[in-house]
Amino acid sequence: MKILITGGAGFIASHVADAYIELGHEVVIIDNLSSGNTANLNPKAKFIEVDITDKEKVQAIVREERPEIINHHAAHIQVGYSVKNPQFDAQNNIIGLLNIMEAAKEIPIKKVIMAATGGAMYGNKITPFNEEMKAEPLSPYGISKRAGELYLNYYHELYQIPFISLRYSNVYGPRQNAHGESGVIAIFSEMIADGKTPVINGDGTHTRDYVYVEDVARANVLALNSDFVGELNIGTTTEISTNEVFRKVVSEMGSDIKEEHSAERPGEQVTSSLDYSKAKQILGWEPQVNFNEGVKRVVAWYKNK
Ligand SMILES: NC(=O)c1ccc[n+]([C@@H]2O[C@H](COP(=O)([O-])OP(=O)(O)OC[C@H]3O[C@@H](n4cnc5c(N)ncnc54)[C@H](O)[C@@H]3O)[C@@H](O)[C@H]2O)c1
Repeated sequence: MKILITGGAGFIASHVADAYIELGHEVVIIDNLSSGNTANLNPKAKFIEVDITDKEKVQAIVREERPEIINHHAAHIQVGYSVKNPQFDAQNNIIGLLNIMEAAKEIPIKKVIMAATGGAMYGNKITPFNEEMKAEPLSPYGISKRAGELYLNYYHELYQIPFISLRYSNVYGPRQNAHGESGVIAIFSEMIADGKTPVINGDGTHTRDYVYVEDVARANVLALNSDFVGELNIGTTTEISTNEVFRKVVSEMGSDIKEEHSAERPGEQVTSSLDYSKAKQILGWEPQVNFNEGVKRVVAWYKNK
């Protein structure tokens, strides 16, 4: 199939592109390289540098390429920055999606797969979060992702464009940007590999659900052939504290640096994990790479970088 991947020069979608190409699909990537990197591009993919906020260019590309599937990963992903500048977040994550969907409705598209968030979707509830729980995002980023899902539902109802929204927990793996505000495994790994001491925000007891990027890419593969329309959590249901992440990375690195803590970041969610039983039932998806194995692979990647 011909698949247009937005954000395919970024961390997650470059792995999705690799998985699609491995299966013989034809992949076209659009990305503005704001946080993506050409080094992540699969050489077998066609790459077009474009900003998805550019309505005319997006429309021209979709008209020209006529993909059967659109896999939408391009987004502004920094939760903290979305709080400081919600207009910027909405411009990229809502208007960007609308530009794609307005173009998609003009062609015989089979499906749209979108990267959404599980971690920033449900608000402060008792973990693990499941899809039946009310979406109550607490940040402009989470709101823009939820708005994206509501728009996809609208395009499905009005234009019969099927969609699957994959609500990821905290994704980690090789190629993750270590210079953002999230991606603690990448941040710790790169700093320790460079001989620096990372500082843990707060007492380090906050937990997150870490899912390995190849497992996420496999969910995107399984989503291609599913008739399901709607939202699916993609996570592990396992909660891991920041202190545990630190200790695991330190031990895999063979380092002896000691923990350092700073003040808590205000408004940080305390716990987060996703119930993935719906994805298991519908896609036959479940995580295959456990945390210990995943961190081992990431650390090996940083050591060889
Ligand atoms: N990393 C996670 O833990 C996580 C969790 C939940 C959801 N997601 C979602 O997965 C997707 C990919 O995230 P990632 O972690 O790979 O981040 P990333 O920053 O590595 O990838 C995003 C890509 O989109 C591109 N991009 C951003 N704005 C663009 C624009 N206006 N026009 C064209 N391209 C643009 C960037 O250059 C980059 O290549 C995002 O939609 C993100 O919200 C990520």
